[in-house]
Amino acid sequence: MEIRVENIVKTFQSSEGPVTALDDVSLTVPSRTIMTLLGPSGCGKTTLLRCVAGLETPDSGKITLGHTVVWAKKNGKTTVVTPDKRGLSMVFQTYAIWPHMTVFENVAYPLEAQGMSKAEITSQVAKTLKFVQLEGFERRPVTALSGGQQQRVALARAIAPEPQIILLDEPLSNLDAKLREETRVVLRSSLNKLGVTALYVTHDRLEAFALSDVVVVMKDGKIMQQGSPEDVYFRPNSRFIVDFIGKANFINGSVQEVKKEHILVDTGLGTLLCQFRDDVQPKQRSTVAIRTDFVEVVPKGKENNVAEELTQNLVSGVVERALFLGEYREVNVRVAEETLTFRLHPTISVDEGDQVQLFLNPQGCHFLL
Ligand SMILES: Nc1ncnc2c1ncn2[C@@H]1O[C@H](COP(=O)(O)OP(=O)(O)OP(=O)(O)O)[C@@H](O)[C@H]1O
Ligand SMILES: [Mg+2]
Repeated sequence: MEIRVENIVKTFQSSEGPVTALDDVSLTVPSRTIMTLLGPSGCGKTTLLRCVAGLETPDSGKITLGHTVVWAKKNGKTTVVTPDKRGLSMVFQTYAIWPHMTVFENVAYPLEAQGMSKAEITSQVAKTLKFVQLEGFERRPVTALSGGQQQRVALARAIAPEPQIILLDEPLSNLDAKLREETRVVLRSSLNKLGVTALYVTHDRLEAFALSDVVVVMKDGKIMQQGSPEDVYFRPNSRFIVDFIGKANFINGSVQEVKKEHILVDTGLGTLLCQFRDDVQPKQRSTVAIRTDFVEVVPKGKENNVAEELTQNLVSGVVERALFLGEYREVNVRVAEETLTFRLHPTISVDEGDQVQLFLNPQGCHFLL
């Protein structure tokens, strides 16, 4: 079932005056896709999810689930479908499972509320617990479960009524890093298998990438960019996205030429080939972002391995600092008046003072407006 959000505005009153949590937000989550709302703390992710759930009332706009308008306000006329009639489930950061109940009772709770018979409930709970790999845990009090298991009870409770839409607000944030990684894989395959439409909130880039079909990056109540994880990563549309999605070096530059597949930009490092964009003019000045994961050290004598048309992006400099961090080395190299920071594979060792040649892969060089 599709989720459609149109022109939603939501303002809160705070002691410092009004706060615009959502500033004219529109998005569509196609049926059976997983969309994540990704963005820094306070950008409005939870507020948007709560508006879709019906737990928060927007100031204006329209929200449609499938063919049903569940909230709209236009010309003073308001349409409201209450949360319990929206046919969706929600999983919260805090799980919000009932501590005084067993695993069975927690998962059965929403089914009882639906008026399902005892026999149907027993079989539906069994089926759901099998799905989240908690068979045999029926009679355990939920307080006697690990964080990861409690998270799965919360998920089981949300999916037991077989909703067509599921909303998840940072459901993995209470898990430790390793369990979080494992659980996000299970979660993705579970959501895919169920064929539900999922709107998922996180501020963790890796979680968003690992889980979603579509990522929506938000800032200050606005959508900054929307697309597949690859789209957002390879075609960032602003400095904010580059910064939020990864790490980059930012240097000044001015457009020299717009070519067929790249643009040429004059910078303090020389002229660089950057990702193509058709909305810039020669002489236009702005910032070039050079992603840290797109800088490579070219060993002596291997310069010829760089394709002829890319040799523009070979620069040389002196290592200022090399920090061994296990999975990678973080290296600073002085090139002309600029310092480039990047990650190097830990098996490649460089020392302070070394003269190195770097290849700045044009796929990671973005002229930003
Ligand atoms: N009930 C409220 N009263 C006043 N302001 C609120 C209320 N709820 C949220 N806000 C404000 O609205 C903005 C968006 O909050 P929201 O909870 O949606 O952010 P978020 O993106 O979910 O952040 P986080 O990643 O920290 O959970 C923030 O500035 C917040 O302070
Ligand atoms: Mg939140």
